[in-house]
Amino acid sequence: MSDRRNFLRFLAASPLFTTYSSFSQVLADTSGSVIQDPSEALNVFEMEAAARATVPPAHFGYLASGVDDDGTLRANREGYTRYQIRPRRLVDVSSYDMSAELFGLRSSTPVFLAPLGSCGAFHPDGEVGVARAAREKETAMILSTQASRPIEEVIDARGGPIWFQLYSTNSWSVTEHLVQRAERAGATAIALTVDLPAGRNTETADLLARADARVCESCHVPGRSKPAFEGVDMDGVGLVDASLTWSVVGRLKNLTSLPIIIKGIETREDAVLAVDSGADGVVVSNHGGRATPTGRGTIEALPEVAEAVNGRIPVIVDGGIRRGSDIFKAIALGASAVGIGRPYAWCLGAFGQAGVEHAIDRLSREFAITMRGSGARSLDEINRDHIIDTQSRR
Ligand code: FNR
Repeated sequence: MSDRRNFLRFLAASPLFTTYSSFSQVLADTSGSVIQDPSEALNVFEMEAAARATVPPAHFGYLASGVDDDGTLRANREGYTRYQIRPRRLVDVSSYDMSAELFGLRSSTPVFLAPLGSCGAFHPDGEVGVARAAREKETAMILSTQASRPIEEVIDARGGPIWFQLYSTNSWSVTEHLVQRAERAGATAIALTVDLPAGRNTETADLLARADARVCESCHVPGRSKPAFEGVDMDGVGLVDASLTWSVVGRLKNLTSLPIIIKGIETREDAVLAVDSGADGVVVSNHGGRATPTGRGTIEALPEVAEAVNGRIPVIVDGGIRRGSDIFKAIALGASAVGIGRPYAWCLGAFGQAGVEHAIDRLSREFAITMRGSGARSLDEINRDHIIDTQSRR
């Protein structure tokens, strides 16, 4: 406990504190007013503060980190302030439906739980706790290649299908193995992540790891390969393949009958290439501001991608979504669904499954307030006229 207090003191005196406060809304005094029970959380930011007080510093750094000076991470959040909502009045919104359905996943809201590696670093239940919460709250989930728990266990805990996020390794036979195992286990789509061909510079993670006096080896084997790779000879196998090109979509489609979704698209040019290559969906994503330091928020990239795709395949967006109004803006700008990453990891870290459930409830409630308050009764009724871009004034 005194380690924790010392760490918080270090954080308060550190330039990192400024980094955090620029994208958190609470930075409420983490020494005194951190919530003790998930039911107390008024919003996901309170969960962030609770996770910061619970999750070991190095692991919290892994979760919190963007790249370089975290500018792209902040841009994801700040991008939402560029768009304002134009609500319509005197529409009968007494009954409404927020549900979404995409490639075999039905979700009570358009919120999907984005793939996060190593959830076991935030809470011992890891992805199984997330899946149980997703089952309770009928929420769609995407499981990372780097998950701490095997896909079969997670699907069992979810009590229904999930999507599998694929890092196409530098060995096609390993990639084949991952895809076939996911298909056998019951995944209904493969989300191929394409935004990390060159590694990344996660300085905040490195700084917080430096502040963590614990010895990693006393708890786990650092860098040990994840359950997705059980039984695989990993000699010389890397998680990503820097030589990957658009031909990978066709190769994956020859390998599996599952839909292929490309995660990590940020431009209209790539949106067109994704459609032309046969992709079944795209996720506008910059890996939560932890891949290329573009400085551009994903919500600002969404309109050009949605326009280029022009309804031919579904577009999902993730990065910086923390409020129901953010979800509404994303749907109005052309998304069929949105992904959240850190918000559910904060909840998992702070309170396990119960935390994740509560966060889903809060976001659903906020989204219902915004959607009905804007005169929309379903996702289909949310449209571009509900939004004004304060930069172009249209
Ligand atoms: C991620 N993300 C991610 N993406 C992916 O395709 N495979 C992965 O294994 C991971 N792992 C991962 C770990 C952690 C700790 C974070 C924060 C993020 C990116 C993730 O799927 C998603 O794109 C972002 O998290 C969305 O941004 P927010 O909601 O965290 O702001």
